[in-house]
Amino acid sequence: MRAYIEEMLSSGQMQVVAREVDPEHELAAVVAKAQQESRRPILFEDVKGSELPVVSNIYGDRDRLGEMIGDKGRSFCQQWANLMKAGGGELVTVAEAAGEFYSAKISDLPHITYHEKDAGPYITSGIFLANDVDTGVPNLSFHRGMHISDDEIRIRLGTTHDLTKYQARAEEAGEALEVAVLIGPPPVVALAAASPIPSDESEMALVAQLTDGPFRMRPCRHIDIDVPYDTEVVIEGRILPDVRRPEGPFGEFAGYYVDVADNHVLEVLGVTVRKNAYYHALICGSPEDHRLLELALSNRVYAHLNNTIPGILDVACVPNLFNTVVKIDKQYEGQPEQVILGAHGVHHDFVKSVMVVDDDVDMNDLDDVYWAFLTRGPADTRVKTFSGVPGFYRGNKPQNWGRVGFDCTAPLDGRPAFERKRIRGLDSLKLSDYLT
Ligand SMILES: Cc1cc2nc3c(=O)[nH]c(=O)nc-3n(C[C@H](O)[C@H](O)[C@H](O)COP(=O)(O)O)c2cc1C
Repeated sequence: MRAYIEEMLSSGQMQVVAREVDPEHELAAVVAKAQQESRRPILFEDVKGSELPVVSNIYGDRDRLGEMIGDKGRSFCQQWANLMKAGGGELVTVAEAAGEFYSAKISDLPHITYHEKDAGPYITSGIFLANDVDTGVPNLSFHRGMHISDDEIRIRLGTTHDLTKYQARAEEAGEALEVAVLIGPPPVVALAAASPIPSDESEMALVAQLTDGPFRMRPCRHIDIDVPYDTEVVIEGRILPDVRRPEGPFGEFAGYYVDVADNHVLEVLGVTVRKNAYYHALICGSPEDHRLLELALSNRVYAHLNNTIPGILDVACVPNLFNTVVKIDKQYEGQPEQVILGAHGVHHDFVKSVMVVDDDVDMNDLDDVYWAFLTRGPADTRVKTFSGVPGFYRGNKPQNWGRVGFDCTAPLDGRPAFERKRIRGLDSLKLSDYLT
């Protein structure tokens, strides 16, 4: 991540805040305001109460995520699928170089409180690396962590996740589960962590698959886990068996607060910080969160549709996981309806709405997607509804039940009438050449 931050700084894409900022609400407010204006990442050089500079919105732009996996701006999902078939690199464990890492405490890290009613400061960008107690298969996943003390962080493990299964198996055996929490690892680790793959497959192997050379790891100091070498901050700990303590409320991805609940406890055994480290802060429910969550679902929808229906070009989840946009090369009437049905079958919680668009539509811009729906055919016959289908729930409220699909494509006959008008020179024009 550091190499990436430095590249953003030298190319002028990083926004820099030099003045001191309070981690209690002010930092999140500045990030959120900056996200309203652009997708650029932002660096806070001086955060009250900690030596570490803080970066945010690293992953908030789909094009930047595409660049990270070598996509040349055509189709993120196609490039991901290509990488899954390619050779990949390998993991190599090396010893820590003298003086490169130092020991710290949780209280040395920035204590960032994001939302008005959050219970307190949270770690939101923590990627949990753990090995299955039975098979040793490593898993990576994001989980929020509530700061309690230098020895304790309270965490939320969703019921279906692999880490939850690892922890349950360790707990059955009466054991704590060792976990390394990575803050600011190389970007491929974040991409792999956001991807759900079958629980018997290694997400560290996926990291290797996404790289093309040796990928350096180093052993932890307190637990028997190797972590990506170039990680800014690593919290080493163990999830305690049969211990649950109050965690929350917290403002999470869907834009609402989750209530306080008895959740898992991570006992902290040590914190290692890389010299001159950056700390990654992420606002849950912001574009940065949505783009990471999108990665998992869009690749899954793409893989499923691409196996069954011709002409699938790319998939995005805009503005969030509840709406899936599928870009197709339309070849026959009825194809969008097949896409709608196919996409709805991919996930039991999300894909509440599906929008199918032609190749000339910007699938990352909901205005453009809806423009296509409004201008390329009748409104009444191109909306499909499916009643009574359960979806993502909070507290058993059925607010996400029912599914809907929008065919936003142009009819095949009479296509010339749907050619988009263009302004010559617009794509290559730089406004800064004109403005004073
Ligand atoms: C920024 C971010 C924060 C997340 N926080 C949590 C969390 O607190 N609890 C949780 O269960 N899942 C959380 N998730 C979702 C999981 O990390 C994600 O679904 C992951 O793919 C699960 O991995 P698995 O399929 O290997 O179990 C978060 C995802 C992101 C991108």
